[in-house]
Amino acid sequence: MSRAGPTRFTGRTALLTAAASGIGEATAHRLAAEGASVLVTDVDAEGARRVAEEIGAQGGRARHRALDVTSVDAWTEAVEAVTSWTGHLDVLHLNAGQNFPGAAHELDDAAWHDQLRLCLDSVFYGVRAAVPLLSTARGAVVITSSVHAVIGFKGFPAYAAAKGGINALVRQLAVEYAGQIRFNAVLPGAVATALWAETPPEYKAQTIARTPVGRLGAPEDIAAAVAFLASEDASFVTGQNLLVDGGRSISSQE
Ligand SMILES: NC(=O)c1ccc[n+]([C@@H]2O[C@H](COP(=O)([O-])OP(=O)(O)OC[C@H]3O[C@@H](n4cnc5c(N)ncnc54)[C@H](O)[C@@H]3O)[C@@H](O)[C@H]2O)c1
Repeated sequence: MSRAGPTRFTGRTALLTAAASGIGEATAHRLAAEGASVLVTDVDAEGARRVAEEIGAQGGRARHRALDVTSVDAWTEAVEAVTSWTGHLDVLHLNAGQNFPGAAHELDDAAWHDQLRLCLDSVFYGVRAAVPLLSTARGAVVITSSVHAVIGFKGFPAYAAAKGGINALVRQLAVEYAGQIRFNAVLPGAVATALWAETPPEYKAQTIARTPVGRLGAPEDIAAAVAFLASEDASFVTGQNLLVDGGRSISSQE
């Protein structure tokens, strides 16, 4: 991406999770292109390294780090890494998630708990670890939720519960840390990432038909929304759940 555009994040440091692919990767590129120093993290350390190296090759400033968001200790170390790199944290993008499908009567305890741990517990761990640095910087947190938090899709009760928990949590945190840290969530609709690679073509076609803008989202569509919410352009926006779904959530199911 060209570095000629606006530089809303010059002098800012951003930590992103699950940034080795998809929405997180696109957001890392977007924030770096707008001037941020970006700590690219993922449980996939090699993937995180690749993204950081690509940003560096394009003239941006990035480091990478292995971070399993479900590990409390790894969160402590990641925040320490930011402190010793730039000394401040301005943007935290909590993006990790994947589906553990299965109707409620079929889902075992392990799948339910794994889903909540990956999508919701991890948000609590990340926020708890980063609040001291973020509040010093008057920072912003953006959490990736999902359209599943606001409409029911058969077969995803644990995912819906975890993402719905994020939506409630951003309101709570926005009030709790008002005047120090802004908290918002993006709720993507169907976005063409690895999560969709193995989706049957007929289901993909049906999803597009039910999406008013007539296409799947691109990771860059979500990155643009994350960048807005993380930037000073959104300084009057906190505690919000922004649907970025091509209108999927406001169209009929016909
Ligand atoms: N793609 C969609 O249609 C869609 C729609 C709504 C919401 N989302 C949400 O967007 C977020 C990103 O999804 P994506 O589609 O870009 O996914 P993706 O599959 O492209 O990337 C997911 C990344 O998460 C990483 N990851 C998995 N477990 C992790 C862990 N424990 N700690 C750290 N990283 C871990 C993976 O290594 C991978 O790099 C997720 O929270 C997902 O629920 C995606």
